[in-house]
Amino acid sequence: MANINDYKKNIIPFYKPANFIVNKAKGSLVWDKNNKKYIDFTAGIAVTNLGHNNKELVKIMNEQSKKLWHLSPLYVNQPAIDLSKKLCKNTFANKVYFCNSGAESVESAIKVARKYTSSFNKKKSEIISFTSSFHGRTMTSISLANSKDLTEGFAPLLKGIKQHKYNQVHDLEKLFSENTSAVILELVQWHDGIIKADQKFLKEIRRLSKKYKSLIIVDEVQSGIGRTGSFFAYEQFNIKPDILCFAKGIANGFPIGGILTTEKISKKMSYGAHGTTFGGGPIACAIGSKVVDLISKKKLLNGVIKKEAIFIEKLEAFNKEHNCFEEIKSAGLWISIHFDKKRTSIDVDELIKKCHESGLMILKANKTSVRFSPSLVIENSLIDDGLKIFNKIVLSLFK
Ligand SMILES: Cc1ncc(COP(=O)(O)O)c(C=O)c1O
Repeated sequence: MANINDYKKNIIPFYKPANFIVNKAKGSLVWDKNNKKYIDFTAGIAVTNLGHNNKELVKIMNEQSKKLWHLSPLYVNQPAIDLSKKLCKNTFANKVYFCNSGAESVESAIKVARKYTSSFNKKKSEIISFTSSFHGRTMTSISLANSKDLTEGFAPLLKGIKQHKYNQVHDLEKLFSENTSAVILELVQWHDGIIKADQKFLKEIRRLSKKYKSLIIVDEVQSGIGRTGSFFAYEQFNIKPDILCFAKGIANGFPIGGILTTEKISKKMSYGAHGTTFGGGPIACAIGSKVVDLISKKKLLNGVIKKEAIFIEKLEAFNKEHNCFEEIKSAGLWISIHFDKKRTSIDVDELIKKCHESGLMILKANKTSVRFSPSLVIENSLIDDGLKIFNKIVLSLFK
């Protein structure tokens, strides 16, 4: 029988995965090869928003796979039309491009922005990005985030990117010029724990983008598809993107990404300027179409806010008694818990390993914080059971 050492033997070590092999999953529960059960507070990495092995989505996938599995984007399939219609009906956008992943959606957004702005000024290609951001692992994405953990060993990075401190208004204008093509930002960052964009910062971005005729790209790869309590986070932040990146939860784990944009921008694109073999495949789009229906429901989105409140109330009650966390931050069902390094020697990797041993899956944010991004429909009883495990492990490690 395969074991974890077989993985290590044949797979390039870009990941340090947990020490068990996952066999099956249902809802917010996961079982390993030894039939040990885990409560899942990760949902992939904020992907299986409607739970693992969702019955309605499995049915759609099976039906579609029998009808049409793959055709290149040179032929039209009905599920891609249906999904694009729904995304345009529910958002600022009236044009969609489908690709395969979050990083590819970011790549596409930057290309579309540059193509558009270069159509009226050849030099208008500069991109402004922000510290502590995350946009994926392609050369463009790591150049935008420009943090050492992502870029070391991969130089030279992409040219024409300027970076500013996230949420800092002061001196932001110094980065803008007539050559600014676009600003790219996440409305909720997660790479250093959950951080929301504040309104003053967004107001300044809006003002400067208007003044310098540059575009606003919002990366909603992780914040989108219900994660923060609205279908896309921009709906809550009083900002209208020119281009929006999506992926992760859109087909609940079946690979697909894309961008949304406007007719005005799309008009400047041309045949053959961009594309990808698998983009807008019929199975991914058929699943995505159902995900949009299910996650757009008011009841589900309100449930995200209610479940967030349950998490926060329980974590705060625990912290009031034991004073283990420096901070608890959240944006919908996206929660980060921060430890104060001056008061504790908690090793986050050790904490995650112990959680696994006790049957709970959680994510690392950085060296001093962990993240939860459970399914948006996780049962309240599992929130309770999972937090009991988490709190117990924290107490056992807290010094
Ligand atoms: C905000 C954001 N953008 C882009 C990406 C990259 O997505 P992918 O891993 O699908 O390439 C991620 C992945 O975590 C993300 O969180």
